[in-house]
Amino acid sequence: MQSRKIGVLLGGLSSEREVSLRTGEAVLNALRERGHDAIPVYVDHDIDVALRQEQIDVAFIALHGRWGEDGCIQGLLELLGIPYTGSDVMASALAMHKGKAKELFRLNNLPTPAYYTLTAEDAADLVAVHGDFGFPCVVKPIREGSSVGVTICHSLADLAPAVEKALCFDDELLVERFIVGKEVSVAILGDRALGACEIAPRAGFYDYQNKYTKGATDYFVPPRLSPERYRGVLAQALRAHLALGCNGASRVDMMVSESGNEFILEVNTVPGLTPTSLLPKIADAAGISFGELCELMLAGATLSTRRGRNERRVVQRPYVEDERREAEANTH
Ligand SMILES: Nc1ncnc2c1ncn2[C@@H]1O[C@H](COP(=O)(O)OP(=O)(O)O)[C@@H](O)[C@H]1O
Ligand SMILES: [Mg+2]
Repeated sequence: MQSRKIGVLLGGLSSEREVSLRTGEAVLNALRERGHDAIPVYVDHDIDVALRQEQIDVAFIALHGRWGEDGCIQGLLELLGIPYTGSDVMASALAMHKGKAKELFRLNNLPTPAYYTLTAEDAADLVAVHGDFGFPCVVKPIREGSSVGVTICHSLADLAPAVEKALCFDDELLVERFIVGKEVSVAILGDRALGACEIAPRAGFYDYQNKYTKGATDYFVPPRLSPERYRGVLAQALRAHLALGCNGASRVDMMVSESGNEFILEVNTVPGLTPTSLLPKIADAAGISFGELCELMLAGATLSTRRGRNERRVVQRPYVEDERREAEANTH
């Protein structure tokens, strides 16, 4: 186990590159401290060449956002036969696309705020498109992270600038009902909810600034909820992780409303992993140190095509047999 060469994939091409560098460096240090042969693999357009040259045995994905968290890098690793941490191609793509993820939450009877989607063409007639959806609402790019391009709108006057800003990051947007209540993020590891953290920004909402500025946000682990409510939140989050087919570690962002309902905002398949990030905070409260957390994530590294090949063999046999029988019947 210790002799495997681990590549920590960091950097990347998304708007969350800086966060990824911090996540990757923290993971690299933790794995090396625990005696692993781990090297950094900086991700850019030449990542295929870098992966072939470095000859790593396993990839620890420390990439956030587009191309790193959305199934792209996972697909490349599948092609190269390199096992990797976290969710597979499909679950990564679904979780990254907030619209598709919400469709799946609804199909699985999981509560998520009311919403509609919007493209650049729709932006020409926002009043008609928004209709009686109401305010406040939240405008966000459909495939971003770290609150990049997210705006809370209180009136029609806020809508056009919010849409314009979000369109800088994606050509499809989500307009969602604003939920008043506590923000709670749940840590999932290996199909188990480890615990949760309540997020209370001192001013405004949990935007990029409040996420990454020291002292700007207060965190409560566990959240200030009744034990019964807390159990319900953990169960919903785990169901959201499973509904998208996620694997390994993920972090489920939720709003717990004042009226007593929970709403799932999104599932993050590559949660931040700096020692001050939410997942490590929650893991720590559950008795799992940062080093152990990295170790557990690494232990879950896999290739979905390996599993898929065995499964396909099982389902293909009766299918081929049926076809043969059908062909025989037709010739008689
Ligand atoms: N429907 C909502 N109601 C209230 N706050 C929201 C809502 N959607 C997003 N937010 C706020 O915006 C932040 C970022 O939104 P989120 O959907 O988690 O996207 P990201 O992928 O950028 O983290 C959340 O952490 C929360 O503070
Ligand atoms: Mg979020």
